[in-house]
Parts: sequence; structure tokens; C-alpha cells
Amino acid sequence: MRPVLRVTRISEALGAEIEGVDLSCPLEPEVHRAVEGALAEHEVLFFRDQDLSPEAHRAFARLFGPLQTHPAYPHVPGFPELTILESDRENPSKIEKWHTDMTFRQCPPLGSILRARIVPETGGDTLWMSLSAAYDALSPAMREFLDGLRAEHSFEHGFRESLAEPGGRERLAEALSANPPVEHPVIRVHPVSGRRSLFVNSLFTTRILELNQEESDAVLAFLCSHMERDEFACRFAWRAGSVAFWDNRCTQHRPINDYWPAQRRMERITIDGDRPYGARKNDETQSANSSRSVPPSSDATASR
Ligand SMILES: [Fe+2]
Repeated sequence: MRPVLRVTRISEALGAEIEGVDLSCPLEPEVHRAVEGALAEHEVLFFRDQDLSPEAHRAFARLFGPLQTHPAYPHVPGFPELTILESDRENPSKIEKWHTDMTFRQCPPLGSILRARIVPETGGDTLWMSLSAAYDALSPAMREFLDGLRAEHSFEHGFRESLAEPGGRERLAEALSANPPVEHPVIRVHPVSGRRSLFVNSLFTTRILELNQEESDAVLAFLCSHMERDEFACRFAWRAGSVAFWDNRCTQHRPINDYWPAQRRMERITIDGDRPYGARKNDETQSANSSRSVPPSSDATASR
């Protein structure tokens, strides 16, 4: 039987370019299932030359779960789910670290669908890394050591630079109180593929709870340098009309800010996710995973 989609892998660890689907039209159920399967397998999908209206962007995202909004972030008029990410001469991009989006929440997003509207003539690529490939490359002894450990993720830690700005603590006071530190397993099991992945990141993870501070600092430093190896990454060069759909449960991403002062404008929709759980039967979050409830997003800056 002819495959529903044409899938071309773009790197060894993760990422695939998908052809044969027009996202501007409602997806047939078999195409939807094929995209879902491709996401679980390749972790980040890329679509080229999509003439995607805000309605179609939202309809595509809704196939995968409830959508988030960011009340004070700019959004496409009439589409509060469609966040505008724009940088130019006056507003250069400040996000430059590897991260998984919003792991300071009990239920970090399932993923995001990002569409390029205006791209610089050169530069402005985005990198993604596979946290499952990074996990697979660890020795069995290290995997065993990490399995069952839990880490704290903190909004305050991730936004410490913004908080340190004049008036920053006042500006972010509401977000700060709405996002106290949370705990996630260090090794996360993917709810669709069942694959295990590392689930810590240098932006939001503060410590591993079962270790003392010195041990925790050393283990986190090792894990973050390990996962940032090129062999676990892929790189995507945007064109106007390009769309990326990443699985936030098993990847990190990082923009390359090499295009200032050129303008770059992207539109993003973020899909609600489940509460992360680990492989151990005694993992406390296992029981909580049956719920899809997600705390309301009250923070306009919580897009990282
Ligand atoms: Fe991000």
C-alpha cells in the first residue's frame, strides 16, 4: 500500500521533512494518524511551503489536544491561541539557551506548531535535540542510577535574568506566584512511543532532589553537556511558509540568533500536555498521569 506521507529524515537523531500533506485543508483521519505516528517516531516534523491561514493553523493544532493562550503576549487578531514571536532591530531575540518549553509547569506542553511568516535572508535557523537519543547513548549503569530520580524545575530560575531587571520582580510577580517550583522524573517515559528520555534542561532544572547540592550540580552539568552533543541534534533552515511541529515531551530546542538586525516573525500555537511520568512503578506521578488537567497559563512570558 502507498504510504500516506513522504517522510525524509534530516539527521540521524531526530527530525523529518514531511511531504504530501496540505495543512491548509482539513486532514483526513488517516493523514492525521500518520502525522501523529511520524511525530512519535521522528520527534520534530517539518513541512515546507504551507499556505496556512490562522484558522487552518488552529484547526491542525486542535487535532492533537487543547490549545494554550498567552493573555498578554501579542497574538494574531481574533486568534488568542496564535502567539506572535517577532524580533527586529529594536527587539532582538533574547532566547538563546537550549530548553524544553515550560517544564516549570506540572503539565508542560505536548508540543508546539510554529509557522514562519517573515524570515531573514540569511541565518535564523533553529536547532532541536533528541532527549531519547541522548538517553539511549548513556551507559546502562548511568541509566540505572538516574532511573527513579526526580528533579526540581523552576520558573524563577529560568527567568532569573528578567527578574533581576529593574522592575522585573514586580512585572513578573503574578507569574511567579502562579508558578511555584515543580518536580519531574529525570527519566521520562513518552506516553505514545513508550521511549525513555532525559527530562532535565539547563534553563529550568535547578537540582536533583535525591542528591546533595554538589552531587546534583555535577550530574546536571554532565547531563546537559552530554545532551548538547551535535550527534543528538538537527538543524532546520526556515523559509516563509515553513512549519515545524515539535514534540516537547522528548526534545529541546534552541534558536540561532545570527540575523540581527533583520526581522523575523513566527506564529506559534502550543498544545497542552500530560503530567510527565517515569518508568518506576513507585513513581508518584504515575497515578497523577490519568488527568489531562493543566493549570491555567497566567504568564505572558512563560513561552520558553
Ligand atoms: Fe521555546
